[in-house]
Amino acid sequence: MSLVAKGLEGIVANESRLSEVDGANGKLCYLGYSIDDLVEHTTFEEVVHLLHRGHLPNQTELTTITEELRSHRFLPAEVTSFLTSLAKDLAPMTVLRTAVSLLGALDLRGGDQDAKLNAERAVALCAQIPLIIACYHRHRQGLPFPEIRKDLSEAGSFLYLISGEEPTPEAVKTLDVAYIIHADHGMNASTFSARVTIATLSDMYSAITSAIGTLKGPLHGGANEGVIDMLLEIGEESEVDEWVEDKLTKKAKIMGIGHRVYKVLDPRAPHLQKMAIKLTEELGEPKWIRMSERIATIMRERKNLNANVDFYSATVYYSLGIPTDLFTPIFAISRAAGWTAQVLEQLEDNRLYRPLTEYIGPKPPQPILPIGQRP
Ligand SMILES: CC(C)(COP(=O)(O)OP(=O)(O)OC[C@H]1O[C@@H](n2cnc3c(N)ncnc32)[C@H](O)[C@@H]1OP(=O)(O)O)[C@@H](O)C(=O)NCCC(=O)NCCS
Repeated sequence: MSLVAKGLEGIVANESRLSEVDGANGKLCYLGYSIDDLVEHTTFEEVVHLLHRGHLPNQTELTTITEELRSHRFLPAEVTSFLTSLAKDLAPMTVLRTAVSLLGALDLRGGDQDAKLNAERAVALCAQIPLIIACYHRHRQGLPFPEIRKDLSEAGSFLYLISGEEPTPEAVKTLDVAYIIHADHGMNASTFSARVTIATLSDMYSAITSAIGTLKGPLHGGANEGVIDMLLEIGEESEVDEWVEDKLTKKAKIMGIGHRVYKVLDPRAPHLQKMAIKLTEELGEPKWIRMSERIATIMRERKNLNANVDFYSATVYYSLGIPTDLFTPIFAISRAAGWTAQVLEQLEDNRLYRPLTEYIGPKPPQPILPIGQRP
């Protein structure tokens, strides 16, 4: 009998106090706090503190973490000149991956396992990842990078940097909620990558670089970009049923649908769904949300599969006027809070990840033929 758990499904690889993903009941908590309550009562900065420092901040601690994040709101000159030297048609996730790796090359302090230095690097990466994305985005548009502002929240600063304009409070609140609900999610693929990398006693930057490369794929963070491509390809509400049926016949995946762990509705989806409905109505473009709802209904009825976090986040970001290829980078901005917290946690009680493979190749011993006789 095969012992393989393909895709490591159902395997518990570590303990973590950071986030609890209850797949059977569709619940997500960070350190015991439901995301439903966190979006209602906290900001992303408070959630960064919760994940990095183990508790929700009091007012003094919130001021401290906010100031720390803002004190890292700058990019080394080497990084900005790298970003502005790049071709303008690259995938922002590719750019982000390489720029984070470059940040690692510029950090000459050593101490890869130094807890204090790593805690500082964790905060710095959360602050610098949005700057990298915004700097490249402005470069590819042929626009100057706006002057960095320290008076804006994390969400507000990012919206301001990509557009060069003061964001509305509603847009800031919407992105802040999106940041909170994407911040951590158990042993998802990119977090697993980060933990596998740091568990070799590599370094924080290598771990986050691995995580970014993993998030990029369409089966993980890249799905939100796929959702908008899908909606644009379908085009009209009247085409939805036929389009989905065609994909199902071809056994193609519908982006934003299904989840490895959630067997009921992804608890993050309703928050994004609510925001997507409001935003598309305000924009006078309810067509997108109506098409999404129809796709979700068909998939529930036909395959018993539900919408996941990416399904509605795509419409939310699209309605905020954010370019499609920045959707996954936005996921990276918020998940950086979780990745870095998980790296710090892994180092507290480290053990190398080293699963096994079931060998299915030719039985040994295979004779080695002289090179002239090999087929
Ligand atoms: C998330 C995902 C990778 C989980 O995959 P998984 O646990 O490995 O599940 P599988 O891919 O083995 O799928 C199991 C079954 O559901 C079907 N299925 C799963 N997701 C599907 C989707 N989005 N569209 C159509 N069918 C889907 C599979 O075809 C398979 O059907 P079968 O048993 O008849 O062959 C998968 O649901 C998916 O690819 N979703 C689309 C990408 C996405 O939205 N990713 C973001 C996740 S947050």
